[in-house]
Amino acid sequence: MTRGRLVALVIAWLAVVLVMSFRARTVGTERVLSGRNSFNPSLTTARAAQEGLPDIQAPPFAHGAAVALAGGLMRELMAALEEGDAVSSIGVCGEAASRIAAEVSEEKGVEVGRVALRLRNPANEPDAWERAWLKASRGTRGENPAAPLGEYRDLPDGRMEYAYLMPIYTAPLCMQCHGGPADLGPGVSEALAKAYPDDQATGFELGSLRGAVRVRFLVRETEAGQFK
Ligand code: HEC
Repeated sequence: MTRGRLVALVIAWLAVVLVMSFRARTVGTERVLSGRNSFNPSLTTARAAQEGLPDIQAPPFAHGAAVALAGGLMRELMAALEEGDAVSSIGVCGEAASRIAAEVSEEKGVEVGRVALRLRNPANEPDAWERAWLKASRGTRGENPAAPLGEYRDLPDGRMEYAYLMPIYTAPLCMQCHGGPADLGPGVSEALAKAYPDDQATGFELGSLRGAVRVRFLVRETEAGQFK
């Protein structure tokens, strides 16, 4: 082997090791939190195969439902902002979120919604598992973004559910209702104070973690055949 080739090989190897150790670090924290082989969608798929679960491919199925909510919401927000302004669109982020969530639930047979640490609507409160993950996710959209989290859970009645979280980061369009004083659209502070007196969901920086889409569904029926 020529010297040049050897150097190229060593550089390639170093690059692979670097990427792997970075990946191991993120997956590592996540694993500790969930206490299961979760966070890495391909690992959970492996568990499904091991356990002889239905060929539902839980992680991509869950991801599809999460994207359906996030994407649908984004489209409606953009349309509302184009037609009116931030103040006239304030209702959309809430109204459209619950309507689209209901549609996705109906169509896919899943529970889907949004959760966050700093809340505007107290109904979007995360559970302990979600809270731990949101707190541990320190990255931004551009730097070390969080990987989606997925976990199979045994339920007391013998059924098993799959729970999934997809991170949501702020995009420029979100800033007029979730950013700091300089980003908020005209009249937004006042309108928010009226509609959400306990609002904690302003002051976000562009690209920061705003919250997550939550998806849950049953993957294994009980002996009595209660499969949702
Ligand atoms: C026009 C104003 C407006 C814009 C633009 C907007 N939001 Fe919201 N957002 C709201 C309102 C109002 C709520 C509370 C909804 C409710 O009552 O359920 C909310 C709630 C949320 C929640 C649920 C958690 C909570 O605090 O209740 C998330 C997550 C969220 N927004 C993310 C985003 C993201 C990401 C964007 C950009 C893609 C965005 N929002 C753009 C007004 C807005």
